[in-house]
Amino acid sequence: MTARSSSPIFVADRGGANVFDAGVIGEVETYRSQIDGALARLCDSGLTALHERTPDVAAAVRYSLLGGGKRFRGILLLAGYRAAGGTDDATLLAAAIEIVHAYSLVHDDLPCMDDDDVRRGRPTVHRKFDARVATVAGLVMVPLAARTAARAAHHLSPSSAGRIVRELMGASGAGGMIGGQMLDLEGEGKTLSLAELEQIHSAKTGALVSTAALLGGLAAGARHGAVDALAQYGAALGLAFQIIDDVLDVTATTEALGKTAGRDVALKKSTYPALLGVDGAMRRADALIDEGCMALSTVGLLTPLLESIARFVVRRRA
Ligand code: IPE
Ligand code: IPE
Ligand code: MG
Ligand code: MG
Ligand code: MG
Repeated sequence: MTARSSSPIFVADRGGANVFDAGVIGEVETYRSQIDGALARLCDSGLTALHERTPDVAAAVRYSLLGGGKRFRGILLLAGYRAAGGTDDATLLAAAIEIVHAYSLVHDDLPCMDDDDVRRGRPTVHRKFDARVATVAGLVMVPLAARTAARAAHHLSPSSAGRIVRELMGASGAGGMIGGQMLDLEGEGKTLSLAELEQIHSAKTGALVSTAALLGGLAAGARHGAVDALAQYGAALGLAFQIIDDVLDVTATTEALGKTAGRDVALKKSTYPALLGVDGAMRRADALIDEGCMALSTVGLLTPLLESIARFVVRRRA
């Protein structure tokens, strides 16, 4: 298959409607290219020692970090930061959360997990390199993310720096993403209840998305109520994001997704469309987006950009 085009990925869906509202597309694309730029600079400056020791692993980290992707979590962090009154440049913190996300994809695709061959329109990291290199590359990316977050947070808000790194690593760990991934693997071949599936999706995907919004608030020095509302909004979006990921797995093509469609059925995963049907899953996602927006509007934080990001979660086609 051919690599996906590098043209803007947010502008329009195939039905002709804007996936992002016209008034915010410019801001979204600016954030996305700033995050891409920060990750490229990190690869140029931060992988030298790794390259000297294990060039394959350094090349695999670079391949994973610079392979495109929507940069949804980073953009969400930057939008939360601005909405909460942040005025500095938080791009490096956004890059840190994208490093955690990219690592989660490298490991998610491994033969011992979802065994996927295609990601972001290209061979997965273990297909391009091998499983050992991909495993180590993923591991290297965790401390790289922590160090990047610490550096960024110390610059943005020294008094919150410790909490920012703790929140990011906590959401990535056993109580969040990794814990959810483990439950997801254990659930293969079983029919889970909706409550069990919600727990998995909220952990494997919701935790990091929620933390993206939360970190924006913390870095901006927002008050407690605002930070809480951002986390609530992010948790609702994160669960909806994974519900739509499940829907797209059965409704979209491999070419549109840049990853193999139909994997969930092949791997006997429980999914929202399997439990609720595609329409029922979409309705649940829509309701979560409304809930998330409500959490922000009650504290006066629902900017047009944060609302549009919320709608993007259900309108997206990849
Ligand atoms: C895919 O995430 C994995 C999930 C947690 C659903 P994204 O859909 O954000 O993947 P990229 O970063 O755009 O490739
Ligand atoms: C991935 O969920 C969640 C992660 C934490 C990476 P999926 O396994 O459904 O993600 P895709 O469909 O492979 O991107
Ligand atoms: Mg998976
Ligand atoms: Mg997967
Ligand atoms: Mg999926």
